[in-house]
Amino acid sequence: MVTIMIREANNSDKSPILNFCKNTFSWGDYIQYVWNYWLAEGNLFVIEKKQPVGICHAIFSKNQVWVEGIRINPDNHRQGLASKLVHHVESIAKEKQISFSYMLIDIENSSSLEMAKNLNYKIYETWNFYSILPQITHGHNIEFGQIPHTKKITHYVKSWRWLVLDEKSLIQLYKQNKIIVANNSGDTSIAILTDSEHFANTLIVTLFSGSEKNTLELISYIQNYCAEKKYHKIQILTREKISFTNSIEHKITFNLMRKSLN
Ligand SMILES: CC(C)(COP(=O)(O)OP(=O)(O)OC[C@H]1O[C@@H](n2cnc3c(N)ncnc32)[C@H](O)[C@@H]1OP(=O)(O)O)[C@@H](O)C(=O)NCCC(=O)NCCS
Repeated sequence: MVTIMIREANNSDKSPILNFCKNTFSWGDYIQYVWNYWLAEGNLFVIEKKQPVGICHAIFSKNQVWVEGIRINPDNHRQGLASKLVHHVESIAKEKQISFSYMLIDIENSSSLEMAKNLNYKIYETWNFYSILPQITHGHNIEFGQIPHTKKITHYVKSWRWLVLDEKSLIQLYKQNKIIVANNSGDTSIAILTDSEHFANTLIVTLFSGSEKNTLELISYIQNYCAEKKYHKIQILTREKISFTNSIEHKITFNLMRKSLN
């Protein structure tokens, strides 16, 4: 019988793992770009069956664990390996008295959604990923401000992780002028701006879209901000569907999956 083992990844795992993380999705994969960061961050787990056959990365923060980058060598699918990796992460989270586990899954990734459902994850929220291009624009009516108390915002996106937006993070973002608000006519729109930690010149925007007019103000401001600051990419994550402007391109819709560990 072949022994299955889960351990922390090391440098020598990079090549055998990247060998099967090239054409994972129609657009390729991103593991090769984040491998070094994830290794340095820790909690990059490898599942081994004589040789490394799968990975996943975990971030334990506050009351949640974020599970990302689950990959199993296609030769070893349907052997329960991804489930073992996720259980491993969940058991560490439980030791740390963490209450929730989260993962993000493309709504078209049926095998991954099935796996998550099998592990008792439920759809918590659905998020849309859009991109816009940096561009010089004029006359924006926005403010740097705090999030109005009427808006119930629990998470913001940092490097593609949905992190808890508690008072401490809120104050930090506010002080760094990372919260922009458009409150001109109709429901307020809010955007939280963060720099990608893994990709250069990439701005990640968590958008809470209110009225069309307010959202257009924010989009226009962000395009101009990025043109001036020489960003190359702007990635917008929002729960709302933005269909009222051509300057925004829909990329993927994701389910944010959650499981209670209590
Ligand atoms: C999704 C993925 C991680 C699953 O890995 P795996 O080791 O094959 O999954 P498991 O063997 O633990 O599967 C557990 C359950 O998930 C479901 N499942 C997994 N793959 C499935 C598939 N292709 N079709 C339908 N259900 C599937 C089944 O219910 C399965 O239980 P069963 O085999 O007893 O029926 C793997 O297919 C993979 O690496 N895909 C490409 C990368 C990816 O999509 N990663 C997730 C990004 S969020």
